[in-house]
Amino acid sequence: MNQMTRPPKIEIIPSSAPFSEAQRSWLNGFFAGLLSTDGPAPLSAEQGAAVLQEPTGDADDGEAPWHDQTIPIADRMKLAEGRPLRRRMMAAMAQQDCGQCGYNCNDYSDAIASKAEARLNLCVPGGKETARMLKALNEELAKTPAASVVVAPATTAEPGRSRDNPVAATFVSRRLLNRSGSEKATWHIDFDLSGCGLDYVVGDSFGIFARNALGLVDQIIAMLGASHTTEVNGKTLREVLTDDVSLAPAPDTLFELLSFITGGAQREKARALAQGEDPDGDAATLDVMAALQKFSGVRPHPEAFVEALEPLQPRLYSISSSHNATPGKLSLTVDCVRYVVGKRKRLGLASTFLAERIKPGDQVKVYVQKAHGFALPQDPKTPIIMIGPGTGIAPFRAFLLDRKATGAPGKNWLFFGHRRSECDFFYSDELNAMKTSGLLTRMSLAWSRDGDRKFYVQDRMREVGREVWTWLAEGANVYVCGDAKRMAKDVERALVDIVAQFGARTTDEAVSFVAELKKKGRFQLDVY
Ligand SMILES: Cc1cc2nc3c(=O)[nH]c(=O)nc-3n(C[C@H](O)[C@H](O)[C@H](O)COP(=O)(O)OP(=O)(O)OC[C@H]3O[C@@H](n4cnc5c(N)ncnc54)[C@H](O)[C@@H]3O)c2cc1C
Ligand SMILES: NC(=O)c1ccc[n+]([C@@H]2O[C@H](COP(=O)([O-])OP(=O)(O)OC[C@H]3O[C@@H](n4cnc5c(N)ncnc54)[C@H](OP(=O)(O)O)[C@@H]3O)[C@@H](O)[C@H]2O)c1
Repeated sequence: MNQMTRPPKIEIIPSSAPFSEAQRSWLNGFFAGLLSTDGPAPLSAEQGAAVLQEPTGDADDGEAPWHDQTIPIADRMKLAEGRPLRRRMMAAMAQQDCGQCGYNCNDYSDAIASKAEARLNLCVPGGKETARMLKALNEELAKTPAASVVVAPATTAEPGRSRDNPVAATFVSRRLLNRSGSEKATWHIDFDLSGCGLDYVVGDSFGIFARNALGLVDQIIAMLGASHTTEVNGKTLREVLTDDVSLAPAPDTLFELLSFITGGAQREKARALAQGEDPDGDAATLDVMAALQKFSGVRPHPEAFVEALEPLQPRLYSISSSHNATPGKLSLTVDCVRYVVGKRKRLGLASTFLAERIKPGDQVKVYVQKAHGFALPQDPKTPIIMIGPGTGIAPFRAFLLDRKATGAPGKNWLFFGHRRSECDFFYSDELNAMKTSGLLTRMSLAWSRDGDRKFYVQDRMREVGREVWTWLAEGANVYVCGDAKRMAKDVERALVDIVAQFGARTTDEAVSFVAELKKKGRFQLDVY
């Protein structure tokens, strides 16, 4: 749960007003929309209470039954039927609270509904489905009385603390964490922050503004029949395509543009794609280049083409170092995304930028995304159980380094897993040394492809369920990091089973117990 300093942090409702954090945040956005002021004067507690007799102002009960990243969007929207617009907007989000938009799901939707946020395309995991749904809901919003009031997102956030105000950090080096024989390429990446002066705490994420691969940019310029020096918005076309726009999933607006400048069956097809239909069953694979190839006779003007693309979005990475241990240094643990569609190799934008394209000494636009609800316990004596397969290890390496640097006496238990023990045991020397020194009280490993059946971290947890329960009973915090779609749910299910079996509870009671752990901040997730 890694969300950040929200771009437009507008404080109208004082913290002393009788509202919950979520209600206050919504109210702040709502009044900011109404007032559209530069520097809103906080209302007194009495004014705040008087203006809104009831908690949210729209009679919503605040429950969010759709807040589960595994529920498909159509079902989420069903669950939100009959709710106020801002709640339906929340249901349209991907429900990961991943922070990539600069908010959590609830706050992003509230910001749109209050018109404090005009951008509808910030939900990266929700992709085009979410953007389309938000567009439709926003049309509803446009018909409401406050439609004329649009508050521009604040760009005055402290430098390097939000996606709207990045700073430059220096890339230092990269090192492959997999050994030979692995099908994966995961890199340990080092940055130097001394030039930009940023700091961070463990649990925070790092936002990276990557640049598109030049090879791809040049192929697109060739497809457009343009020159890379063609000027667009005061820059060369090559610069704009490299730095400013996303070349990944082709947006609806690109298909709209293609439909305007072609005719017949091509036009129908482009129009259908613009409306989210899939006439040829290939819509999911159409990045910008593939869209141009599909409509290869159609050559949009470079200016119109650029206008039809989405802005390049930053990517977040869990920080895998501790500022307390190594001030001014920051590291990441990045899985390189590469795959093939048809005959073309596709490159994940930021992961291949970090893993392959930047060179030591290069400056990269970055920001620290503050974590909310993903942090070491305040009491350094509190035991912690960390469950992080794959790149999910990243924040836990940071936690361990931090506990070592600060001399925190709490016990530490790591569950790590990956494909093969031989080649996918990231940071094995370091972790083994931590085990030997006693910093790592326990280390439990799970290799999914060593044996003839899959074996995951949650299987290992079940094996040692009695001890997991003992740690929980001693007050341990539990942390999960990594894949949001399947792993996080499966781990939570294992935890419920452990609580039921070893805590002598019914399944329902165990579910409530785990929900209570979450509420108390003793069960925290950082999933993506
Ligand atoms: C809070 C947070 C923390 C994160 N921490 C980490 C971390 O520590 N380490 C890490 O590696 N990542 C982390 N991520 C994920 C990271 O932000 C990026 O999403 C990831 O690196 C991919 O980005 P990219 O730009 O390289 O790829 P993109 O250009 O965004 O492409 C990724 C997309 O490619 C498509 N794709 C990928 N593989 C395939 C395939 N085999 N077949 C078809 N399509 C495919 C999918 O649509 C996928 O969404 C984190 C994310 C969040 C939100
Ligand atoms: N197509 C995609 O877009 C795609 C696919 C996978 C991962 N990812 C993303 O890629 C990034 C990096 O991945 P990663 O390096 O962390 O590795 P990963 O590919 O997510 O896998 C790490 C380990 O987790 C195992 N695993 C798979 N399903 C699991 C489950 N339900 N419960 C517990 N463990 C499970 C994997 O086993 P097995 O692989 O042997 O099953 C592997 O051993 C993440 O963002 C992840 O979400 C994307």
